[in-house]
Amino acid sequence: MKERIITYRGKDITVTFHVDRCTHVAECLRGAPEVFDSGRRPWVEPDAADPDKVAEVVVRCPTGALHFKRNDGGPDESIPKENVLNLQKNGPVWVKGDLEIHNSEGAVLFRDTRVAFCRCGGSAHPPFCDGMHLFTGFRDDGRIGRPPASGSEESAQPGGLVITLQTNGALLVNGPLILMTADGKEEYRGGRALLCRCGASRNKPFCDGSHKKTGFTANP
Ligand code: FES
Repeated sequence: MKERIITYRGKDITVTFHVDRCTHVAECLRGAPEVFDSGRRPWVEPDAADPDKVAEVVVRCPTGALHFKRNDGGPDESIPKENVLNLQKNGPVWVKGDLEIHNSEGAVLFRDTRVAFCRCGGSAHPPFCDGMHLFTGFRDDGRIGRPPASGSEESAQPGGLVITLQTNGALLVNGPLILMTADGKEEYRGGRALLCRCGASRNKPFCDGSHKKTGFTANP
């Protein structure tokens, strides 16, 4: 499925909006209401605030729905030094870091610094969360289940994450990662994790193989 991206060009900064990745977290509306106003058309006015402020608010967007490009020579978005996965209660996992997303054949699909990955299995735009967990009845308290033996003990070298979308299965995350509970506690550090994205695992956030029984399908 082709991603819908709308570009809002300003004099000093251009903002892009990835429509299907927005789950209405509203960091932008709170952070710079003069720039981002969902009751106005166009709803993004990049020149309505200082470009540094626009950039700072854009990078607060946890889903990666918003990105920016400076036209004034200002700094691009910096790559986070750590890769942090924040579980959301009854919702997606927000991943922030130096991210490279691969399909199951190893081809690079895209690179990013912020992505909200679906965990309920119901997204119409996998691997992105599109808010369907609100309608699928997905329930997870956002705590960390029992880590697989091969996960946390692996030494994690500094660097980015490679996240592989396994065909009709889990997210395989390779690289140094920190996993946070929904209430903000760091409970897992490691070099590898296999994360459920079908919603059926009984050991969330990890995959326990349940996707094979449920017939989960996801086209990367
Ligand atoms: S992807 Fe959900 S159990 Fe494997």
